[in-house]
Amino acid sequence: MKRLNGRIALVTGAGGGIGRAIAMALAVEGATVHVTDVDADTANGVAGEIIAAGGQARPDRLDVTDPAAVLAIFAQLKDMHGRLDILVNNAGLNVRADFRHMTDDDWKTIRETNLDSVVRLSRDGFDLLRVSGHGVILNLASIMAERGMRQLTGYSATKGAIAALTRGMAVEYAGFGIRVNYLAPGFVETALTERVLRNPSINQALIDQTPMRRFGTPEDIAKAAVFLASDDAAFITGTGLTVDGGMSASL
Ligand SMILES: NC(=O)c1ccc[n+]([C@@H]2O[C@H](COP(=O)([O-])OP(=O)(O)OC[C@H]3O[C@@H](n4cnc5c(N)ncnc54)[C@H](O)[C@@H]3O)[C@@H](O)[C@H]2O)c1
Repeated sequence: MKRLNGRIALVTGAGGGIGRAIAMALAVEGATVHVTDVDADTANGVAGEIIAAGGQARPDRLDVTDPAAVLAIFAQLKDMHGRLDILVNNAGLNVRADFRHMTDDDWKTIRETNLDSVVRLSRDGFDLLRVSGHGVILNLASIMAERGMRQLTGYSATKGAIAALTRGMAVEYAGFGIRVNYLAPGFVETALTERVLRNPSINQALIDQTPMRRFGTPEDIAKAAVFLASDDAAFITGTGLTVDGGMSASL
C-alpha cells in the first residue's frame, strides 16, 4: 500500500539535489508531484524521470522569489485539483562570503530565496492546504541553524528563522488540519556543497565529525521527507527531524 496515494504535492527547487530526491520519493509513494524549479530544464528533466518510472508529475518553472509567480502556481493548482496536500519548501542557496564582506545584495539573495520564499508559499498556499484536510508543509532547514561556520553566517540565520517560523505556523495551522515540520540535514552531497566537499581537508574534517563517517545522500533526506509528509506522522507538528549521521549529537 503506497503511503501517499492520491496526494497532490508541490516541491520547490526540485530540479536537482535534495528537492529532486524528495519529488521522486513522493511520486514513488503515489503522490502527483508538481516539480518546480527556477531552472525549467531541470524541472522538466525530473518530471520526465518520474513519469518514465511510472509516476505522476508535472514540471513548472517557479522562481520562489517572484510573488506573482507564486500566486500563479497556486491558481493553477486550484484549477487543476482544487487543493494541495503537501508543500515542500526546498529551494535554497548560499552566497559564499565572510560575514564582514557580505554585501546587502548577497544577504538579500540569501534571505529572499531561503526565507522569504517559505513565508510567501506557506502563507499563499494556506487556502489550498486547508481544503486538503490533511495538509502538510515541510521546510528545509539545516543543522547549520544551530551552529556557525565560516561563509555560512547569512545562510545559517535563514535556517534558524525557518525553524522558528515552522513552530509558529504549526501552532496556527493545526486548527486547520495542516501539519508543519522541518528537516535539518547535515552535509549532503549536492551542487550546493560540491565546492566545500571537494576541498580534501574540509571534507576529511567533516567526515571526522560525523559518527557515521559518511555524508548524507539526497535519498537519506527524501526518506525522512516521505515519513513527515505521510499519515505515519499524523501527530507530529511544529518540530524538526535531524538527518545528519549523528554529526550534531557529537562534540
Ligand atoms: N546539501 C546539503 O548539505 C544541505 C544541508 C542542509 C540543508 N540543505 C537545504 O536543502 C535544500 C536543497 O539543497 P540542495 O543541497 O539540494 O541544493 P542544490 O543547489 O543541489 O539544489 C537547489 C535547487 O534549488 C533551485 N533554486 C535556487 N534558487 C531558486 C529559486 N529562486 N526558485 C526556485 N528554485 C530555486 C536550484 O535551481 C536547484 O535546483 C536547500 O534549502 C538547502 O539549504 C542542504
